[in-house]
Amino acid sequence: MKAGFNPVGMVHYEKHLPFLPFLSLTTIPGGRFCRGSWPLVFQLKKLNRQKEATSVKGFESLLAIRGFKAVMSHPSTNTQRLPVRWLSSGVTRLAILLFFSGLCGAVQRHDTSVFSSLSTPAHSITRLGYFVFAITGAIFITMSGLLIYAIVRYRERAQDPPVEPPQVFGSTEIEMAWTIIPVLIIVILFLTTAGVIFTLQDAKKPANALKVIIVGHQFWWEYRYPQLGIASANELHIPVSNAGDPRPTFMQLTSADVNHSFWIPQLAGKVDLLPNRVNELWMDPHKPGVYLGQCSLLCGVQHAKMLLRVYVDSPEQFDTWVKQQREPAGLSPQAAEGRRVFEAQSCVSCHTIKGTPANGRFGPDLTHLMSRATIASGSLDNNTDNLRRWIDNPDTFKPGVLMPSLHLTNQEVDQVAAYLATLK
Ligand code: CUA
Repeated sequence: MKAGFNPVGMVHYEKHLPFLPFLSLTTIPGGRFCRGSWPLVFQLKKLNRQKEATSVKGFESLLAIRGFKAVMSHPSTNTQRLPVRWLSSGVTRLAILLFFSGLCGAVQRHDTSVFSSLSTPAHSITRLGYFVFAITGAIFITMSGLLIYAIVRYRERAQDPPVEPPQVFGSTEIEMAWTIIPVLIIVILFLTTAGVIFTLQDAKKPANALKVIIVGHQFWWEYRYPQLGIASANELHIPVSNAGDPRPTFMQLTSADVNHSFWIPQLAGKVDLLPNRVNELWMDPHKPGVYLGQCSLLCGVQHAKMLLRVYVDSPEQFDTWVKQQREPAGLSPQAAEGRRVFEAQSCVSCHTIKGTPANGRFGPDLTHLMSRATIASGSLDNNTDNLRRWIDNPDTFKPGVLMPSLHLTNQEVDQVAAYLATLK
């Protein structure tokens, strides 16, 4: 192994992988050119396993793709120029990787970037974001420019006399300038932000607005539609709202236990769900589709698996969904055994299945469980196999989840799963 490249150092990149998604929230949308960066991350993981010389060669070729070929192609002799040594240091490689991965993380499909907003409140927030970036970016460029100019222009030269240069104290003009300008900037940022907040809060609620009550639970979401008389969990359905036919959704958010936070970055700002308090939020999604989010306030061990899926439906799709949710549970005679087991166990004290004795409120309403694509608050696909394993022992997927394993026999688990699978 040549000096300067430490293949063991490669291992450290993997440790940082979990942090990459966080960068996506802070990066700019112009990064579409580098959608290939995630493959870069995964290739790097693969390289890790291949070890030694292959890793280094592979990493060089990856960087070469990104335009670093010139500096990276002759690695590591001690006589190399400074930039080459910099680029081959682990820290620099990590920084390059984080930069590209973060930049590209923002623009994945199904993205959760605040910069690809698709509803009125989200647009306002995006515009405000750009405005703040523009001001802070201008400050950054001006200050770095002045700093670099001062460092270069006034650096110590060989012919300089070996005495301290003249020291200047007190300049009323300069001191006034560096007090007043920052104050003005902060006032501008404050007023613009407050303007956006108040405009969004004061938005008029049209008569046809849909009302949804959202209750946060450890670790799932409860949705109630008081105007429609339906209740659902984890997957929120709301109608699309076009300029010609506006139909915004107004939400009231509260919590049944600890603090949670509801955030669909493409549709609206983040709102906390607090016990004994009702917060409000509205959104008018302009495009049908599935929008993703995540509880964004640490609420316990399974906070990370308290995922959000919002289905923005066309008016027809939404009406169909509402009609289907209003139907009583389809109780198929083939599932009678499973139903008997379900109702004999404590399942009924936590879950509701309309039209049966099950009317618990502690866990999700299961009346139309199979109309949802996922279970366990978005963390598993909803299919019989996963349902089976979930009923058998929820802790396998969400350690610390509040639903207990009831230690059913394999046969009972199969029967309950078969029963739930009929709840279309
Ligand atoms: Cu709920 Cu974090």
